Amino acid sequence: MAEVRSSTETRETWTSNRGFIFAAIGSAVGLGNIWRFPGVAYESGGGAFLIPYLIALVTAGIPILFLDYSIGHRFRGSAPLSFRRMWRKSEALGWFQTALLFVISVYYAVIIAWSLSYFYFSFGNKWGDDPATFFTEDYLHAADPGVSSELVAGVAWPLVGVWVAIIAILALGIAKGIEKVNVIGLPLLVLGFSALVIRALTLPGASDGLNALFTPDWGALTDLNVWIAAYSQIFFSMSIAFGIMISYASFQRRKANMTSSGLVVGFANSSFEILAGIGVFSTLGFFAHEQGVTFDNLDGLTGPTLSFITFPAVISEMPGSAIFGALFFGSLAIAGFTSLISLVIGVSVAVQEKFGLSKEVAAVAVGIVAAAVSFGLFATTTGLVALDTVDQFANNIGIVVSAIAMCVIVVWIARTIDPLRRHLNMVSTFHVGKWWIPVIGVYAPIFLTVMLVQKVHDLIVNGYEGYPAWYIGVFGWGTIAFTIVFTAVFTLIGWGGRDDPDFRAWPDLDSPSTERRTEPKGANR
Ligand code: ALA
Repeated sequence: MAEVRSSTETRETWTSNRGFIFAAIGSAVGLGNIWRFPGVAYESGGGAFLIPYLIALVTAGIPILFLDYSIGHRFRGSAPLSFRRMWRKSEALGWFQTALLFVISVYYAVIIAWSLSYFYFSFGNKWGDDPATFFTEDYLHAADPGVSSELVAGVAWPLVGVWVAIIAILALGIAKGIEKVNVIGLPLLVLGFSALVIRALTLPGASDGLNALFTPDWGALTDLNVWIAAYSQIFFSMSIAFGIMISYASFQRRKANMTSSGLVVGFANSSFEILAGIGVFSTLGFFAHEQGVTFDNLDGLTGPTLSFITFPAVISEMPGSAIFGALFFGSLAIAGFTSLISLVIGVSVAVQEKFGLSKEVAAVAVGIVAAAVSFGLFATTTGLVALDTVDQFANNIGIVVSAIAMCVIVVWIARTIDPLRRHLNMVSTFHVGKWWIPVIGVYAPIFLTVMLVQKVHDLIVNGYEGYPAWYIGVFGWGTIAFTIVFTAVFTLIGWGGRDDPDFRAWPDLDSPSTERRTEPKGANR
């Protein structure tokens, strides 16, 4: 690794450590926390799920978050540029991660558009007394799995708003755009969602929901699928192993306490996730109570159904329902939006660096292409099924492959794990012990590979959700094929000298301690 100082860095930075922490938490806390976690937890054995979840947090979440931080902070680039600077041939992994960011952002934006619509529908319970029919037929005009070019106006309009706002914020940049939105959005989200949880806890039947969330079904622990769900949830939710945290860390000042910030971000994210579990399960407990059934007899508790069908049904039965609905869907939209920013900036900065563009041009170019795909595939009458399928493959295969590749390359091929550990320890107060190396180099890749093989086998043998095989081929495996082609194309395009030849990583890992701790003059302004 190059170790000489740079005296000319002009990279944009967060204005403060607080700005970075807010943005990183804003990225982590997203649809994954509110929309995905409660459903996954319920499907995976309720209370039992919390055990693999916490194990996944400690054994993969925090260690891989540190890995992302160390790579981005030391090599100061988007995922492709950082990997390239770490070891030239690993640039491809950066593009693979960028491809995943692109794929996830194009459907993620659509769920935010749904949330905005539902925020509006909350005033007056527009979904009436049959929220299932309202969601699939009246709102989405949903058709069977297939390909349709028929845009759904109710989705398309809020989606226009989402993409215009994303492009504008990205064009404003790190400090004036992204940081500002997070510094305003995150407290708003915490306040709004806490109010919702407090209200939910006071509803009759809430305790039945909490019992379902916290009572372990120990049998579930022997089911490998539960572990797979826990690790996938941790990666998606913490925004790790797919380029986001590499980019965000690259905008952190060179002298910055990375590991302590990482611990704050990791635990804040999981706390919010468990808070979301408490809010959603208490509300569902109330629903079971109102229907006179036991919690186990509820259905419609997973995927989009939970947020957009079951929740509206519960909200209708509640006194003060408009406020509760607005708080739920408003929180979903804000949490999703601050995460979407981080997904798209990961792509936009990668393109900006590779092609030597200004941040404004990169934001507009990437935003327009992503928006076009987002409309064409997911704002149509077949968008719901497409979204569900692409989400399944991008998360359970794409991100897991990316995490395995990252661990193997860093530890066994580029052999940069120890320098990265020393980097973190030189700039941070919480020191990463040697335990980190076997966790990243042995435990994580072996465990993740077992998970991956099981998941791929399951998808090949059982398909997904009963969708036709051709459909899984095109939208599921096609998603994976797309990421591979994207990776190949962007890796093969040359840099044309745009990777700063004077770039030098800092701190100098071999110089005497006083010197290496002095931040280079002019670095980060
Ligand atoms: N971390 C983001 C989420 O949980 C992507 O939704």
